Amino acid sequence: MKICYPEPKNIPQLMELSKSFADETFWASHIPIGQMVDTETARDRLFGSEVVNVQIAENEKGQLVGYVGVYSEIVDGEMVYFASLLVAVEYRHKGVGKRLVEQVFQNLPAGIKVEAWVGDFNRASLEATPKMGFTLARTMNLEIAGKEATIYIFERKS
Ligand SMILES: CC(C)(COP(=O)(O)OP(=O)(O)OC[C@H]1O[C@@H](n2cnc3c(N)ncnc32)[C@H](O)[C@@H]1OP(=O)(O)O)[C@@H](O)C(=O)NCCC(=O)NCCS
Repeated sequence: MKICYPEPKNIPQLMELSKSFADETFWASHIPIGQMVDTETARDRLFGSEVVNVQIAENEKGQLVGYVGVYSEIVDGEMVYFASLLVAVEYRHKGVGKRLVEQVFQNLPAGIKVEAWVGDFNRASLEATPKMGFTLARTMNLEIAGKEATIYIFERKS
């Protein structure tokens, strides 16, 4: 397994990964990692202007099996940083997510605070995110897939 920067050939692979994830469960297509299903969105997630750093996991056949991105966005006049993480279902629980997160943090400017938003319906990520160096900062309520959800907002400093 190789962790590296993405190349243009990874755009359709990221779309496939996102499509498979979107079919996993009822809420998956309602969050950003389940919506990278068209070329423009996938290209933006890998190479767009909001990218601070992106790393991908590639198997021995050169297929993309995991992805992490940190993005900047201006919210209420302030720069906010968000992390996005997705590992192919057959590669989970093997340390790929953790390696991706470590690699992306090694390549961020020092001293930025990165948020990870996790819904209460996402049990795997609620368990995994604190094990990847994030700590719970606050919660908020949102409607996702027509249901009221509690969103756990984790933070990690670079
Ligand atoms: C969340 C996700 C990225 C984790 O990736 P992963 O490659 O399976 O994670 P790792 O194997 O690196 O595990 C990291 C830690 O989390 C724990 N963990 C991972 N999945 C877990 C689960 N389902 N239940 C409990 N613990 C879990 C691991 O045991 C490990 O802990 P350790 O360091 O104490 O051994 C992966 O499940 C995924 O892609 N889920 C779907 C997409 C998603 O929900 N992304 C986050 C959106 S907010």
